[in-house]
Amino acid sequence: MTQASLGQSVVQKEIHASQNNGVAANITQTQPLWLLAEVTYRCPLHCAFCYNPTDYDKHTQNELTTEQWIDALRDARKLGAIQLGISGGEPLLRDDIEDIVIEAKKLGYYSNLITSGVGLTEKRIKAFKEGGLDHIQLSMHDITEEINNFITNTKTFELKKKVAAMIKDHGYPMVLNVVMHRYNIGHIKEILEMAEALGADYIELANTQYYGWSLVNRNQLMPLKEQVDHAEAVTNEFRANPNNKMKIFFVVPDYFSDRPKKCMNGWGEIFMIVTANGDVLPCHSARVLPNMQFPNVREKGLEWAWNDSPAFNKYRGDSWMKEPCRSCSEKENDLGGCRCQAFLLSGDAEAADPVCSKSPHHHLIEKAIEDSKNPVLTAQPIVFRNDKNSKKIIAGELNDRVDEFHALP
Ligand code: FES
Repeated sequence: MTQASLGQSVVQKEIHASQNNGVAANITQTQPLWLLAEVTYRCPLHCAFCYNPTDYDKHTQNELTTEQWIDALRDARKLGAIQLGISGGEPLLRDDIEDIVIEAKKLGYYSNLITSGVGLTEKRIKAFKEGGLDHIQLSMHDITEEINNFITNTKTFELKKKVAAMIKDHGYPMVLNVVMHRYNIGHIKEILEMAEALGADYIELANTQYYGWSLVNRNQLMPLKEQVDHAEAVTNEFRANPNNKMKIFFVVPDYFSDRPKKCMNGWGEIFMIVTANGDVLPCHSARVLPNMQFPNVREKGLEWAWNDSPAFNKYRGDSWMKEPCRSCSEKENDLGGCRCQAFLLSGDAEAADPVCSKSPHHHLIEKAIEDSKNPVLTAQPIVFRNDKNSKKIIAGELNDRVDEFHALP
């Protein structure tokens, strides 16, 4: 799941006089149109760019039960959620995804399983089809076995191709997600050709954004600006070919833009995440922010979390902004960018996202780009996402790699 594919913004609601004490109204109201269920942080892959929290090991023992997930699905549906992403970690490590899919169908969700493909068998995919799962998004990593296996720290190259064929055979649209970074960005044309050969209907080329494990590995993963420009040009050429039938989505990396993204389409506007341990978040990284207490489905319901919790209200709209965002003519386009990125890089969660060239912290982005070219820094080993490294980060043993950030990402 990437942040750039979220769809529509807040809903405009017309309220008829008969429903509202004789007064007709037209109000703007936020609804969590998207529910992302991060059902587990366990994962058989160890991707260097994973956006899961680096301290995920804390949350692998206290996952929500099937019943708690089903209650969360019902509550979110009452609030207006219509799109359901079932994600992780690797969701297929749970054996109750079939039950979750059946319930999602009954509730009228459009459901999407976001998977590495590890654990997808004929038996399970048949059960998903019968249960009403609408969509499967498969992650791919490269056209070469070498890079696929290196960046995921697993041997999964052949398996992914088999799973792609299985998804197609069962009549699902073929939806691929490829995270782009220094090791595969030069293969973009071949990656598009591979997707075409697999019969992909849709491919998302998601340039790495730097949160979680990818922030720890930023110097090792960040491509050169010229490589990103070249990849975009190749993508546009591929798109323009009249024989191309795939929808191709190219997610521009924040660090090479001069304006920030409207993160999550606005804080608490359309997107709600329930994490493996039941925390309810407006974005994947929110727990890095200081002085915030996030609701948990075990304590209070999703309605309170969405409508009333201080955490969801904290960065809604623009009243929290300070300069230069407050008086910026573009503030409605980007809402000051990403709160988590602002805090991780500048130490101030209310600062303009340093990605913005108007930000007083923009030099931090320029420094990161320079650091990613420094052979001493890039030669540091990748910290792969695994339980051992998560425990080390929790214990403060990798502080040399995260010291320059203002929280454990
Ligand atoms: Fe952008 Fe948290 S990841 S606001």
